[in-house]
Amino acid sequence: MHEIDTKRLPAHIAIIMDGNGRWAKTRMLERVRGHESGADAVRTCVTACRELGIKALSLYAFSEENWRRPGLEVTALMKLLEKYLIEERSEILDNNIRLVASGRIEKLPEKVRRLLYERMEESAANSGMFLNLCLSYTGREEIVDATVKIAELVKSGDLQPEEITAEIFEQHLYVPQLP
Ligand code: FPP
Repeated sequence: MHEIDTKRLPAHIAIIMDGNGRWAKTRMLERVRGHESGADAVRTCVTACRELGIKALSLYAFSEENWRRPGLEVTALMKLLEKYLIEERSEILDNNIRLVASGRIEKLPEKVRRLLYERMEESAANSGMFLNLCLSYTGREEIVDATVKIAELVKSGDLQPEEITAEIFEQHLYVPQLP
C-alpha cells in the first residue's frame, strides 16, 4: 500500500463514472447491475475524499449524451439517483458536505429535481467538501449557458462588453464557488 502524501493532494477531484456496462458484461450481468455497483462505489469515493480533506469532488454521473440511451436504462439511472439522494441524506449532512449540481438540471424528472434541490438547500451552509453532481452536463453547454447569462446582463445594460473578464465568466459557471 502506498502512503498518501496529504500535502500534495488536489483541491478538486473529478471522476468520470465510466465502465459500468463493461463491469456488468464481464460478470454476465445486466448493464443496470453495473450502474448499481457504480452508485455503491460513489459512497466509497465520497467517504475517502472527505477523510482526505479534498475540497471538491465532481462526479460525471449523467451527460447530455446519456439521454440518448434506451428509455429503460435512463429510467433505471434516474431511480438510482433518487435512491442515492434519499439514502445518503444523513451521510451528506453529518459529514459537513455541501451538495451542488452542474448541468441542465431542468431536464431531469420532477422527483429527482425536487430531491436534488432539497439536499442542496439543507446542505447549503456546509463547508467540509463540495460534492458536485454533474447531471445532464456537458462542458460545451456550460460555456454556452454562462455566455447567455452574460449576454443578458449586457443587453439589460447592467454590464459593458469591455467589463467581461475571466473572473466575470467564472462567476457565471454552474457552481462558481468550486475550486
Ligand atoms: C457509464 O457507464 C455510467 C453512466 C452512464 C451512469 C452513471 C450513473 C449512475 C450509476 C447513477 C447514480 C449516480 C450517483 C451519483 C449515485 P457505461 O454504461 O458507459 O459503461 P461502459 O463504459 O462500460 O459502457
